[in-house]
Amino acid sequence: MHLIAPSILSADFANLQTACEMLNKSDADWFHIDVMDGVFVPNISFGMPIIKAIRKHSTKVFDVHLMIVEPDKYIKDFKAVGADILTVHYEACTHLHRTIQAIKSEGMKAGVSLNPHTNVSVLEDIIADLDLVLIMSVNPGFGGQSFIENTYSKIEKLKEIIKSKNSKALIEIDGGVTSANAKKLINAGADVLVAGSFVFNSANPIKTIHELKNI
Ligand code: DX5
Ligand code: ZN
Repeated sequence: MHLIAPSILSADFANLQTACEMLNKSDADWFHIDVMDGVFVPNISFGMPIIKAIRKHSTKVFDVHLMIVEPDKYIKDFKAVGADILTVHYEACTHLHRTIQAIKSEGMKAGVSLNPHTNVSVLEDIIADLDLVLIMSVNPGFGGQSFIENTYSKIEKLKEIIKSKNSKALIEIDGGVTSANAKKLINAGADVLVAGSFVFNSANPIKTIHELKNI
């Protein structure tokens, strides 16, 4: 069964406790948390203090997506505020193997994210060490953008690499996910779907999450 990870980026930042309580009651599996530094991506979201504050109100797995340069500097800090899964960008890491080992040594699951232009083949020599690959299906930085269709073939190629290397990595898709493309993404091989605006801008987010989970 696939997993659903609603993204906090589209929640009402003045009412994050309410968003946590809604998600606690919902069929969401993970809470997707987007950290942006204004350098790796052209936007700034929030950092550790916000994650620490919402951790107290959430019963869900914290799936933290770092869109930042030099993530190695902050691995221990993200563990301290409650990250369960820590995902870094391939494009932001010069020594990716070292970064992944550092995340795991803190007791977190380790993920790598790929921008839309990055070929999945770059992960061949690290895939066996990964718990998660996050394929960006929009250019990172903003919620509410439209889905890039090339994502389906990336999922299929990545699935082959995962199988050939006996990796247990899950495939997560992030950006422009809706009930219109969710089924096709799962059929292509996606294990986890992130949804921001589609969930939080809907009239009934709990129902929308339920629909995505049971698609
Ligand atoms: C974009 C973020 C996404 C974003 C997705 O840079 O990584 O997680 O919240 O938002 P939607 O689902 O609205 O495209
Ligand atoms: Zn994200």
